[in-house]
Amino acid sequence: MSVSIDETDETDKTGATGATSATRTTGETDETCATGEAVGTGRTGGSSTSQLAPATAVPVPTAWLNFARLLPEELPPPQDAEGGSALELMTRIRLRAVQEQERSDEALLPVPEEVRRRYAEIGRPTRLTRARALERHLGTPARIYLKREDQLPTGSFKLNSAIAQAYFASREGVRTLVTETGAGQWGHAVQYAARMFGLESIVFWAGVSARQKTSRRAVLSMLGARVHESPSAVTAVGRAVRESGRHASGSLGTAIGEAISYAAEHPEVRYVSGSNLPHVLMHQTVIGQETRAQLTALGEEPDVLVAAVGGGSNLMGLMAPFLEQKRARGDGLRLIGAESAAAPRLTKGTWRYDHADPGRMTPLSKSYTLGLDYELPETHVGGLRQHSGSTAVGVLRSAGWLDAVAYEEREIFETGRLVLRLEGFLPAPESCHALRAAIDEASAARRPTVIVVCVSGHGLLDIEGYLDAFPLQGV
Ligand SMILES: Cc1ncc(COP(=O)(O)O)c(C=O)c1O
Repeated sequence: MSVSIDETDETDKTGATGATSATRTTGETDETCATGEAVGTGRTGGSSTSQLAPATAVPVPTAWLNFARLLPEELPPPQDAEGGSALELMTRIRLRAVQEQERSDEALLPVPEEVRRRYAEIGRPTRLTRARALERHLGTPARIYLKREDQLPTGSFKLNSAIAQAYFASREGVRTLVTETGAGQWGHAVQYAARMFGLESIVFWAGVSARQKTSRRAVLSMLGARVHESPSAVTAVGRAVRESGRHASGSLGTAIGEAISYAAEHPEVRYVSGSNLPHVLMHQTVIGQETRAQLTALGEEPDVLVAAVGGGSNLMGLMAPFLEQKRARGDGLRLIGAESAAAPRLTKGTWRYDHADPGRMTPLSKSYTLGLDYELPETHVGGLRQHSGSTAVGVLRSAGWLDAVAYEEREIFETGRLVLRLEGFLPAPESCHALRAAIDEASAARRPTVIVVCVSGHGLLDIEGYLDAFPLQGV
C-alpha cells in the first residue's frame, strides 16, 4: 500500500524553513510507514525485522538528576517584589518534599521505590524509535530518533512529575491538590496521579484551551476532576483579571496565579506546579536518562537534541543528562528549544526578572519574558502559551548553549499531519514544534547526523485544533 502524499503540496508546507529544501521520496511502503526500531522496553515497534536494532532493555531510572549543578551558570534565585511576600507564600502552599529537592546539593535525588514502580506500571521506559519513514521522505542523511513520551496513559510526559508530586502529597497527609493547566495535559496528568494516591485535584484551566478542547474536557470530566475555566470567579486573582478587562481569554500565567491564590485561601490544600519550577524539571530527567541509555545501547551519540519549550520541563528533562557532553563538545552537540510564534519568549523576549502570572502571585523570577502586559493571541498551543518561562532554560539560552526557533500554528499542524501520515501517530500541537525543528535540522543536514526529539505528547485529545486546520474531507 502506498501512502499518498502529494509531494509538491508537502514540500511547500513542511520543507525546511530558510535555506534548505529537502529532496523527498514518493511511494512510501508499508515498511516505511511503521515506526522504526524501538529500544528500551524489550518490545520492538517496526514491521521489518531487518531494520530492527536489538531491543535492549534499559532500567527505569533510580534517581532524578539535579540539573542545576550541570548548568553553565548558577540559577539566579527567585525574589520578592518590593514589599511583597510571595516567597513566604510559596513556602507555605507547596509540598515540603519538593522544596527540599530544590534546596539539595546532591547530584542525584533518589526516586522513591513506589514512584519507580508506578513509572514502570505506566510504561517507563518509554520507547526510543527511529523515524525512518520521515527520514526517507526528507531524503536526509540524518538519523531521527523519537522519544515517545506520548505513549504514557494520559498522553504526555506530564505524568512523570504528577506521579512524583501526588506521591509526596500522600506522604505529607495532604488530601487535595490545586494546580493550573494550559493545554490540559498537566491537569489531566494531575487528576490521574491524584486518583492513584486517593487524592482530589482542582484544576484552573486557561479558558481559551478549556473551551477549544471538548475531547480532553470529556476525559477530565470522566476522571472526576474539578475544573475551573480561568480567569474564573472562584479566586480573588481571577476576579481581578476579569474586572481588568485584560487577558480575558486566559493564559497559563493567569491560571498559575489562580491556583496559587486558591491554595493561599485554603490552608489544607497544596499547590502543585506543572513546569517552570526546578523540582518539576528534575522529575522530568527520567526522559533524558533513558534516552542516553537507549542511544548508548544503539551505539549512537546525539548531535542535536530538540524539545518544545513552554516552561521548559520536557526540554530540561531530555537535555539535562547531556549537559556534561555539551560542556565538553561545545557546538558538536546542539540543543534546540522550539517555541510558539504566538509566545516568542526565547526568540524575542528579554532576560530579566518578572512575575510568572499577571496577578503577581508568583515571586519575581529571572527568565526570558515578553512582559506582563503582553496579550497572548488565542492559539491551539496552550502548553507553550505563556509570557515568561523557567529560569533554568533562560540560563541555557543566555549562556549560548541553547538555540531557539519559533513556529506559526499553521506550520505546526502541517507537521503533525505529516508525522501522522508517515509515522502513524498524531503528535500534540506542542510536540509538533519540536518535530518541526527536527525536520528543519534533518533537511539541512549534509552528513549523517543524529537528531533526538522529545515527542512530549499525543494529539488525539487536541483534535479540535487539527480540525480547524484541516476540515473533514472524504470521510
Ligand atoms: C504536550 C506538551 N508538550 C510540551 C509542553 C510544554 O511544557 P514544558 O515546557 O514544561 O515541557 C506542554 C505543556 O503543557 C505539553 O502539554
